[in-house]
Amino acid sequence: MAVKGIILAGGSGTRLYPITKSISKHLLPIYDKPMIYYSISVLMLAGIRDILIICDQENLNSFKNLLGNGSNFGLKFKYKVQNKPDGIASAIILGEKFIKNDKVCLILGDNIFYGQDFQRKLSKAISSDLGANIFAYKVADPKNYGIINTDKRNNPTSIVEKPANPKSNWAVTGLYFYNNTVIEKAKHLKKSKRGEYEISDINNIYLKEGDLGVQYFGRGFAWLDTGTCDNLISASQFVETIEKRQGLKIACLEEIAFRNNWIKKKEIIKIFRGNIGNTYYEYLMKVVKDKT
Ligand code: TTP
Repeated sequence: MAVKGIILAGGSGTRLYPITKSISKHLLPIYDKPMIYYSISVLMLAGIRDILIICDQENLNSFKNLLGNGSNFGLKFKYKVQNKPDGIASAIILGEKFIKNDKVCLILGDNIFYGQDFQRKLSKAISSDLGANIFAYKVADPKNYGIINTDKRNNPTSIVEKPANPKSNWAVTGLYFYNNTVIEKAKHLKKSKRGEYEISDINNIYLKEGDLGVQYFGRGFAWLDTGTCDNLISASQFVETIEKRQGLKIACLEEIAFRNNWIKKKEIIKIFRGNIGNTYYEYLMKVVKDKT
């Protein structure tokens, strides 16, 4: 069974206002590329090529201008407008026709994942027999996230959205793998007190059914969300530091596509024709030269 990808790039971006008054935060730069590249790269690393991008009507054309039909990256993009930012779980309903009978991986468009062993964790989630697979990360500010409560043996017992009195520091990250029953589950959700269809409610249903797998990222891993001005700049600095130190780019989509044999050298050259003096292009030229 195939796995489809859905990227949530809607929302209201109120924490970044006024920057987000006229542009979706997902189009803002995180150092040297638009924010949405980072979540696209995660799906690519998981081997997912059929991707639905959910965004608001105002930004639809900008996303299309940036990403097109996906062929530049060896991918297939479809777009769906979310009229109202009424929650992350509503993406499942918006994506019902796109998901069809397949499995689905949902990722938030403002999340960055970076670290060793990530691809192995993604493969594990994809090949898991469990109905849902999520990832947890230890955070200093648990009140701002969906938090996993555990029993004495560290087995998850429930997930609480933005708890006033958090019982752990393990936050659920914005990356979720589901089997096809997620569609039925999403259809029966009720809005929470804050007026949203909560992804934590979906995860709790799987948990109650004994069908939820949780993988924990260790402290050597980086999970960043970029929804505030402070986070935006620290994520940019993080990416700059790693890229300059290693001479390797994070979330360079053409590079991933090229290494996966989804696009060829001559296609990359064609896409970037006339971009002499552009460091992103120069990097890609080095990648293709080194590999050939
Ligand atoms: P949030 O950061 O929770 O919300 P937001 O982006 O609207 O920002 P703010 O809190 O500053 O108003 O959203 C997490 C991610 O999910 C983000 O990438 C936007 C996306 N999202 C949607 O696409 N649709 C939605 O209905 C919601 C709530 C979020």
